[in-house]
Amino acid sequence: MTKENIITIDNKEFAFEPGETILEVARRNDIFIPTLCHLKGTTPTGACRICVVDVKGARDLVPSCAYPASNGMIVKSESPAVIKARKNIIQLMLASGNHNCAIRQFEPDEWTQFHLKVLKEDNYNELCPVWGDCQLQDLAYRYQVITKALPVSDSKYPMETVNPFIIRDFSRCILCGRCVQACREIQVNNAIDFGYRGAKAKIVAGADVALKDSDCVFCGECVQVCPVGALVPKETFENKKRFEKSKKVRTTCSYCGVGCQMDLTVQDNKIVEINGAEDAEPNHGSLCVKGRYGYNFVASPERLTTPLIKKDGKFQEATWGQAFELVASKFMEIKSKYGADSMGVLTSARVTNEDNYIAQKFTRSVLKTNNIDHCARL
Ligand code: SF4
Ligand code: SF4
Ligand code: SF4
Ligand code: FES
Repeated sequence: MTKENIITIDNKEFAFEPGETILEVARRNDIFIPTLCHLKGTTPTGACRICVVDVKGARDLVPSCAYPASNGMIVKSESPAVIKARKNIIQLMLASGNHNCAIRQFEPDEWTQFHLKVLKEDNYNELCPVWGDCQLQDLAYRYQVITKALPVSDSKYPMETVNPFIIRDFSRCILCGRCVQACREIQVNNAIDFGYRGAKAKIVAGADVALKDSDCVFCGECVQVCPVGALVPKETFENKKRFEKSKKVRTTCSYCGVGCQMDLTVQDNKIVEINGAEDAEPNHGSLCVKGRYGYNFVASPERLTTPLIKKDGKFQEATWGQAFELVASKFMEIKSKYGADSMGVLTSARVTNEDNYIAQKFTRSVLKTNNIDHCARL
C-alpha cells in the first residue's frame, strides 16, 4: 500500500494535510524552525528567509513558511548549509541598524560578562527596550553570530516619539513586514506599508506621516508582532521594562463583554505592558486600544479608595456599610413614594457580561422592576 501525504523531516515521517507548509508540519510536530517575517494566519511573504530548510532534490534552500509540503518530500531542518544561511541572515540584520544589545560586537565568550554588567548597571540609555525579549537577539545567541567585522549602517530616520502610545525606532527595524501584515490582514486597517526602496526602505504610515496623523487606530497589533525593538509601547519605554524583573499575569480585559484574554507584564507590582494572549480565545492575541494601553488608572493615585458621601455640599469619607445603607434607603424611599416602575437601570456594552448580568438581577429581583436596558439599544 502506498502512503499518501507523508513528508520526512529530520528522518521522521509525518502526515500532512494538503496545503500545509513545511513549517506548519514541523511546528505541529515540535520541530524547531526559526521565523521572523512569518505571521500565523496571514499570507506568507517569504521576506526574511531565516526559515530556510534543505529539501532533497531542490536547487536552493527553500523558505519553509511559504513552501507547501508534498508527498515523499525529504527535509532537513538544520543542515550545515541551513545553519550557514541563517547565520548570514542574522549577521546582515544585526548590521543593518542600531542593534546595540552588543551581540554584534563581542566574541561568544565575552557575551556573558557583558550581559552580567548590563544587568548590574542597568544603563537605560544604552540598553535596547526589548533587551532579553527580542527574537533577533534570541536567534543571534542560538546561532552564535559575531558581526564585528561587518560595517553597521547608520540610522536614516529619527525615532518617532510623537504618538500617544507607540514609539517607532526605525534604526532597529529589520523590514520583516510583520507589522504591515498584522495591520492589513488581521486588523484590516491598512494604516502602514513598505515605502521607498533599497537602502532607504522604511515602513511608512500613509504618505510617510507620524502614526498619529494616519489611519492608525493604535490597536497595537503591529507592536505585539514586531520581533525586535522597532515598535515599542511608550509606557514600556518610559517605565524601563526589564524582562528579568517582571512577571506575566494572565487575565480577562474588563472594558467590554467580549472577554479578551491578556497577559499583563507586572514589574514592582505595577503593570508596565499588556499583550493579547495568542494561545487563547476569543481574541488570539489581538486587543483594542483600550485593552492594550488603557491601564494607567489601575495604579493612579487619584483613584477613589473609599466611598464618599456628600454632607453639607462636601464629600466626606464613609465606610462601605454607610454607603450601602444610604443608597438602599434612598431606593426604598423612591419605591414607596412612586412605585418600583418609577425606577430604571441603564447598563453598558463597555462593562463585562458579568456586570450586565448582575445589573439585571439587581433591577428585577431587588428593585422589582423590569425597567432594565442597555446602551446598545439607545
Ligand atoms: S532590537 Fe533586538 S537585536 Fe536589536 S538591539 Fe534590540 S535586543 Fe538587540
Ligand atoms: S497600531 Fe493598529 S492600526 Fe496602527 S499601524 Fe499598528 S496595527 Fe495598524
Ligand atoms: S517595524 Fe518591526 S514588524 Fe515592522 S517591519 Fe520593522 S521589524 Fe518588522
Ligand atoms: S519566516 Fe519564512 S521567510 Fe521569513
